[in-house]
Amino acid sequence: MNAITLNETDPAAFRDYLSAHENKTLLRFLTCGSVDDGKSTLIGRLLYDTKLIFEDQLAGLEKDSRRFGTVGEDIDLALLVDGLQAEREQGITIDVAYRFFATDKRKFIVADTPGHEQYTRNMATGASNSDLAVILIDARKGILTQTRRHSFIVSLLGIKHVVLAINKIDLVDYSQEIFDRIVADYKVLAADFGFETLQPIPLSARFGDNVLERGENLGWYTGPTLVEHLETVEIHRNEANAPFRLPIQWVNRPDLNFRGFSGTIASGSVRPGDEIIVADSGLTSRVKTITTYDGDLPVAVAGQAITLTLEDEIDISRGNVLSKPEERPEFTDQFQAKLIWMSEDELIPGRPYLLKTGTRTVAISITDIKYKTDVNTFEQQAAKTLKLNEVAEVNIAAQAPIAFDPYADNKATGAFILIDRITNLTLAAGLIEHSLRRATNVHWQALEVTKSARAEVKRQKPVVLWFTGLSGAGKSTIANLVEKKLLSLGQHTILLDGDNVRHGLNKDLGFTDADRVENIRRVAEVSKLMVEAGLITLVSFISPFKAERQMARELLEDGEFIEIHVATSLEVAESRDPKGLYKKARAGEIPNFTGIDSPYEAPESAEITTGTSTAEDEADAIVAYLLDNAYLPVEPPYVI
Ligand code: ADX
Repeated sequence: MNAITLNETDPAAFRDYLSAHENKTLLRFLTCGSVDDGKSTLIGRLLYDTKLIFEDQLAGLEKDSRRFGTVGEDIDLALLVDGLQAEREQGITIDVAYRFFATDKRKFIVADTPGHEQYTRNMATGASNSDLAVILIDARKGILTQTRRHSFIVSLLGIKHVVLAINKIDLVDYSQEIFDRIVADYKVLAADFGFETLQPIPLSARFGDNVLERGENLGWYTGPTLVEHLETVEIHRNEANAPFRLPIQWVNRPDLNFRGFSGTIASGSVRPGDEIIVADSGLTSRVKTITTYDGDLPVAVAGQAITLTLEDEIDISRGNVLSKPEERPEFTDQFQAKLIWMSEDELIPGRPYLLKTGTRTVAISITDIKYKTDVNTFEQQAAKTLKLNEVAEVNIAAQAPIAFDPYADNKATGAFILIDRITNLTLAAGLIEHSLRRATNVHWQALEVTKSARAEVKRQKPVVLWFTGLSGAGKSTIANLVEKKLLSLGQHTILLDGDNVRHGLNKDLGFTDADRVENIRRVAEVSKLMVEAGLITLVSFISPFKAERQMARELLEDGEFIEIHVATSLEVAESRDPKGLYKKARAGEIPNFTGIDSPYEAPESAEITTGTSTAEDEADAIVAYLLDNAYLPVEPPYVI
């Protein structure tokens, strides 16, 4: 029997290991603490004492610890864990090492997560699968800020069982008094965390006291050793008993006779004959077969990858969630969630992000940061944005409804990640708390006079001409000329100009990233209304960020958004300096000035790019584009 270490992308080794220990229960736990607390030593000790180390690894270890070790002739167990870590670290973005070991009574998966402050996100990743957390404390130091932080995140992620491992007890002369004091302090700290079990254990990872064997020097301690506790603590994993949820990964249609719906069961179980419902559409059917590579099954449970065939031909697509009719998930586009922000770029309310839960990805934005929680003091604080590792309570609005369960009820269908739309990087981990029903009472009014009717009387196809570019690039100049030309052709227009809109609708906004995002969000919504009115809508805003310009585009229908990049260079715009603002910005009098100390993200595929001829010619070219693409009537009306 061996200890094995592998990452999440190696399911085959994971399956082999589990099947060798099929009849034992599984406990998943994570360790929280830093190397200084002896975390690596403790994990090494667990693997070593349970005799699960490869023989050759052990030989290597004895050699290494003589060379590098910090503990004289003894084997330095920390070297073992750190060595394993280096082996498997390549190719994963989030740094969580999973190790597997077993005793006669149970098998274990331990998620080893770095304990340093910036690694809150790694801890969150490891913790989300865990039943129990071992929180390490250095007996000499007692409860530290990081102990508070670890405990907070453990409780946030819904872990109900905690071991308080008071390590290095040998270095405080195996003192019961010190142990008792730390335990008392911790109980105060953790009072509101809702832990079901809290087992304090004094131990010495280095010498092994109370890890597997009872410590000779700890006669005063009558509780279990760490391994005894891990072997016996009662955990109620209820994935298999939870309501059935199957997020559909793909529709499997190898030929005309077979149509199956494939995915991994997130929770619950399913049998042939069960009635199922598509959470998204409300369509129902019955399960005909449960197909796998190993043949058809009489029952399938959480964690199994399956293909269902159904009695009826109903419409189901990737991202849909199947459940049973009597226990449907929630289905909504507005909800409240906890967010752990994991990106160096700060969260900006109103900015469009992608949310991925199960197999579904949907565009969302944060409509409100209710508060953030200081993970060290647990204080709730007001926040406009979130930075790396911050934890907050937020409201989220999605572009389309999603099926989910509150995280407290179902970890599998209540968790999500947020993804950057442009870079595709993971930005945050989130836990859904509940849906927000207020928005569902605002009903969309069906209007009798439609957009196309309004456009028809104006003899035009409504469209947004979105001018983007640096301050002083000439956006407003060109937009003005275009509007004049259109008006002289008898067309119906409106011009929304940054400087003007900022005097009215947006007078509460400045030039921070967050304010610019909100500025553009509002203008995009107003443009949409103008298009509804049938107007040719000219928008002239710096609009420096790709994400918001893309959002504006997506608010409209295909062909209703024409991005015009007024591509004047910074040098030229600055040399013009029509309002004297560049000069002031260079003198440090205007902070966050676009092009100077605030970024401008140029479009990559604007419909029109200007900047090569005179404003007059550019304006003519834009009108010609509208004519060529049938936004304007072939024959303009006669204008007196
Ligand atoms: S945007 O970035 O949010 O799209 P917007 O187009 O509304 O900007 O406003 C830009 C105008 O505000 C500029 O043309 C300039 O006259 C003025 N302005 C004042 N401060 C700044 C600043 N820090 N950065 C850019 N423009 C500024």
